[in-house]
Amino acid sequence: MQLDPFMQSLGLKYPIFQGGMAWVADGRLAAAVSNAGGLGIIGAGHASGEVVQHEIEVAKSLTDRPFGVNVMLLSPHVQDVVDVILREQKNITVVTTGAGDPSRYLPDFKAANIKVIPVVGSVALAKRMARVGADAVVAEGMESGGHIGKLTTMALVPQVVDAIDIPVIAAGGIADGRGFAAAFMLGAIGVQMGTRFLVATESKIHPDYKQAVLKAKDIDTVITGEYAGHPARVLKNPMAKRFMRLEKQEAAKAEPDFSEVEQIGNGSLRDAVLTGDPKTGAYMAGQVAGMVKTKQPAADILADVYTQAMQLMGGK
Ligand SMILES: Cc1cc2nc3c(=O)[nH]c(=O)nc-3n(C[C@H](O)[C@H](O)[C@H](O)COP(=O)(O)O)c2cc1C
Repeated sequence: MQLDPFMQSLGLKYPIFQGGMAWVADGRLAAAVSNAGGLGIIGAGHASGEVVQHEIEVAKSLTDRPFGVNVMLLSPHVQDVVDVILREQKNITVVTTGAGDPSRYLPDFKAANIKVIPVVGSVALAKRMARVGADAVVAEGMESGGHIGKLTTMALVPQVVDAIDIPVIAAGGIADGRGFAAAFMLGAIGVQMGTRFLVATESKIHPDYKQAVLKAKDIDTVITGEYAGHPARVLKNPMAKRFMRLEKQEAAKAEPDFSEVEQIGNGSLRDAVLTGDPKTGAYMAGQVAGMVKTKQPAADILADVYTQAMQLMGGK
């Protein structure tokens, strides 16, 4: 398959990004993906600049290939993380951004020769990103794990492709070569996967969280935060059930106050990753968890997805 010139410019062998997942995507996972020819992305999440700097050092020590950092725009440390990335500009090829509009940081990244690829969940945000000079966008459907928008990948990707002139990478609900091929048929020039990489050998998530992803069925994810704000797709577990029960109760009140619910949510992904406790941990995962059945090295995940896609696409 002839890689799109944009993917070639990133120095990739496979047009596959590993989603920059908060708490999950550390320097080790990102380096493993980059070494195998995909784009590894460190998830900054809500971590401090110092922690992100450390993960960049880890990635640099493990790979000479291009990698990226995902900046979570809701983080209180966003400016520190941006400053770290700018200082490391020689080593960071791509910045992806999650949860909002990164316009104010774009000029500095561009001046530092870093490609900026915001994650978008609507045509309006995609158009705005193209207008302010983003290099590409990740169009992410609500099948995905983590924080989500309202549209599905199947509906969102072609509408974004039609609306803008910059490259589109598809995310949400892609876990094998069939999803990859479908994304290309919708007009994407690459894919981003998160859930499948949760169970990579190099993924550091707690074994109980990994096991829950491997055991999940098609209908095992739910959306928390539909009332309290910042909807997120997670596996149904005691934490998710409690969160949803409380937010629903609160939403039914004349003057809802979601502060207690928010407190339960704070740090819940960290708990899932570090302790695996299903009573406090948000096991974020996408709808494709139901088809992710094997723990594999990141390199095998990339090769499997790409090989299956090439068979389906007739080598195109
Ligand atoms: C545990 C988890 C954490 C995530 N954290 C982030 C994040 O911090 N920033 C972001 O832009 N996307 C985040 N995502 C989304 C992924 O980067 C990716 O776009 C998504 O998982 C793709 O959909 P899939 O899960 O169906 O493969 C997260 C996803 C998961 C599963």
